[in-house]
Amino acid sequence: MIVLGLESTAHTFGASIMDNNKIISSENAMFTTEEGGMIPKLIIEHHLENFDKVIRTALKNAGKSMKDVELVSFSQSPGIGSVLQLGAVIARSLALKNKIPIIGVNHCVAHLEIARLLTGFEDPVMLYVSGANTQIIAFQEGKYRVFGETLDMGAGNFIDHFGRLIGLGFPAGKKIEESALKGKNFVELPYNVKGMDVNFGGLYTNLKQKIESKQYNINDLCYSVQETVFAELVEISERALAHCSKKELVVAGGVGCNKRLQEMCRIMCKERGAKFKPLPAEYAADNAAMIAWTGLLKYDSSGADKMEDTIINQRTRTEEVEVAWR
Ligand code: ATP
Ligand code: FE2
Repeated sequence: MIVLGLESTAHTFGASIMDNNKIISSENAMFTTEEGGMIPKLIIEHHLENFDKVIRTALKNAGKSMKDVELVSFSQSPGIGSVLQLGAVIARSLALKNKIPIIGVNHCVAHLEIARLLTGFEDPVMLYVSGANTQIIAFQEGKYRVFGETLDMGAGNFIDHFGRLIGLGFPAGKKIEESALKGKNFVELPYNVKGMDVNFGGLYTNLKQKIESKQYNINDLCYSVQETVFAELVEISERALAHCSKKELVVAGGVGCNKRLQEMCRIMCKERGAKFKPLPAEYAADNAAMIAWTGLLKYDSSGADKMEDTIINQRTRTEEVEVAWR
């Protein structure tokens, strides 16, 4: 079955063509800015300018036209309301015009499903660490359950906020990763793990003070931020593996592109006899293949959505999603 997946929850507008479980093409246009963060109005302008080109390129690179598409899948929840709405309207228009079934999927679950597809892991624990989200998730009794999460901002948002303090623009994760490689001295920072949860607000305030004091080398701070935050994430991942008696770990979400985080996960898994596989960067971060794939899984198990059921939801949580395909 040929599926067109559309991603539109936040900074990225993406389109992907999948032929059953094969990714044939995956195209993205990502909103970036030198100053400030994600301003919904600017993201909408960006997506409006780019959606047509992105969809056409995805079709062209797959050697397909809209006539070949048999299912349209779109990101229905969660995300920025207006951005979700735009994606839903585009998906509905394409489905109606071309008389093809439509299906809405949860963006967070889609990160997890593409991770399962690409690693070949059956039943992994998933560290989902993106801009807005930081959760440790495993499948139990018919649902993806959240075993631990951030109590304030997502690790990626924290990283981007820290990036703004040091003038890096948005997104900052990759640039901080590069600076961290030049850091030589570890600076002790607040380490906030509470049970299975983490939080970053205190760390942010502490860093703000350190930066204002001008007493610290920026590369050292980048290095120390990564070591501290990633140690927290690896600690809760390890505890989740033990608690759920699972043997595989994947890291999904944009922060999962970070090589140091991947290395720390690999070391932890090796030490406890579990398996770890990193995802290619383009499928760890927001992408539309994950939407196409999850749409196909949902379609195969439950059929298409009715048009009136394609209303977006900004806040659906991972554990609310019906996972009929597992
Ligand atoms: P979600 O809607 O799932 O929360 P998102 O919209 O925030 O996702 P993602 O693409 O999954 O989008 O993640 C983006 C985040 O990943 C940004 O905060 C960015 O700084 C961070 N990031 C990207 N690359 C790296 C990296 N190499 N190291 C650390 N963080 C990174
Ligand atoms: Fe995402």
